[in-house]
Amino acid sequence: MTAGCPVHEGFDPLSAEFLADPYAVLAGLPLAEAPVFYAPSIGYYVITRYADIEQVFRDPGSYSAAVAQAPLVPLVPEAQQILLAGGHRPQPSMVSLDEPAHARLRKPAARAFSAKRVSAMVPAIVATTARLLDAVAGQAEFDLIVTLAFPLPANIVFSLMGVPEQDYPQLKRWCGSRAALGWGRPAPGDQVEIATSMAAYRRYLRDLVDARAREPGDDLTSDLLVIHAEDPERLTLDEISSILFSLSFAGHETTTGLIGNTARRLLEEPGRWARVAQRPELIPAAVEEALRYDTSVPVWRRVTTRPVTLGGVDLPEGARLFLWLAASGRDPSVFLRPDEFDLDRANASQHLAFGLGLHYCLGASFGKLETRLALEELAHRYPGLRLAESQQFTFHPNISFRGPQVLRVQTGPA
Ligand code: HEM
Repeated sequence: MTAGCPVHEGFDPLSAEFLADPYAVLAGLPLAEAPVFYAPSIGYYVITRYADIEQVFRDPGSYSAAVAQAPLVPLVPEAQQILLAGGHRPQPSMVSLDEPAHARLRKPAARAFSAKRVSAMVPAIVATTARLLDAVAGQAEFDLIVTLAFPLPANIVFSLMGVPEQDYPQLKRWCGSRAALGWGRPAPGDQVEIATSMAAYRRYLRDLVDARAREPGDDLTSDLLVIHAEDPERLTLDEISSILFSLSFAGHETTTGLIGNTARRLLEEPGRWARVAQRPELIPAAVEEALRYDTSVPVWRRVTTRPVTLGGVDLPEGARLFLWLAASGRDPSVFLRPDEFDLDRANASQHLAFGLGLHYCLGASFGKLETRLALEELAHRYPGLRLAESQQFTFHPNISFRGPQVLRVQTGPA
């Protein structure tokens, strides 16, 4: 820890208080005097201001992505060995690689994840949303997460990758283990189990690449194999499976959280839901405002590659940074009355919820598209939808993926 940097002994982003309401914790911090502070509970410097986070994202030479997926707690040796033997390296995939290794994966992934492939998914997103909502038709109450927000993005991204449908539940379980490994605080006993499933997850994806190489389909894996066939040196089969490892996870929990958070914020004010149901053209603005006000990826991480000064604080080389994206969305120097959810906010889309620069979220428009289509259908079917009364929201105990685990809604008249 560096001299002159404020320290918050009590700041713990995995505490029950923080998980329940990080915005209440944020409001209680003396950010005007200390926008950068050290949190001993995690060994990270917490960066809260919009301008400081923007500076970090825009300077990949000084701020490496290497820690983006690093476990928050040291892993027991047995878990480490299982991970390494299963091909899971300390910088496991695209989002934690720096140049030039990052570009080797990002370029072909961006080419395969084209606007054309994304827009071709619209009919599947619409049909899957309808099928999932049909399953609860006529029910007075249902859980929006288990019914729609969880299965929709998972099914869509897995089908995009060409995963056979019978394997979806297994892949979902592996993704849950991955959130705990990289962004939670798993107990030593759980770490071995998680590492074992991570190795199986890696093996599964590598086998999928081989299967598609033998029998190509109309999917993104097959598109990546076309790039491999053009020049096997430019994109290897292992690299294709690494891209699938990125997409299968990034394209799933993030969007479940965004659908849940957007629906929660629209429903907590009955007039707001009614307005959106009457004017569905407001839904894209609602999604941007949810990304600013209550994003589903509230924290991302970097590590300094040299001594720097950030937010007036001198940081040494190797300082690990907790970029509090959710706090940047509430920065009053960028967003007027930041603690109000405002459907008419002119600059909501200026949020940093998808990062910036080299690693800017590859699936930003895809995640927003899925969320918009899901909410449009929900508002169309249920203009009078309400939150079920007296529910306490719970959240998965990790620092980077946030959305209500259960969101009970009522469909009938109040
Ligand atoms: C909908 C909510 C989503 C949010 C809030 C979100 C947020 C983020 C953030 C914060 C980053 C890191 C940016 C950085 O390091 O500068 C990121 C990277 C990434 N996201 Fe997303 N994401 C979302 C959805 C998706 C979807 C649907 C996909 C794919 C289907 C996706 C794929 C990726 C990939 C591949 C990267 C790594 C890009 C790179 O390293 O070059 N994301 N996302």
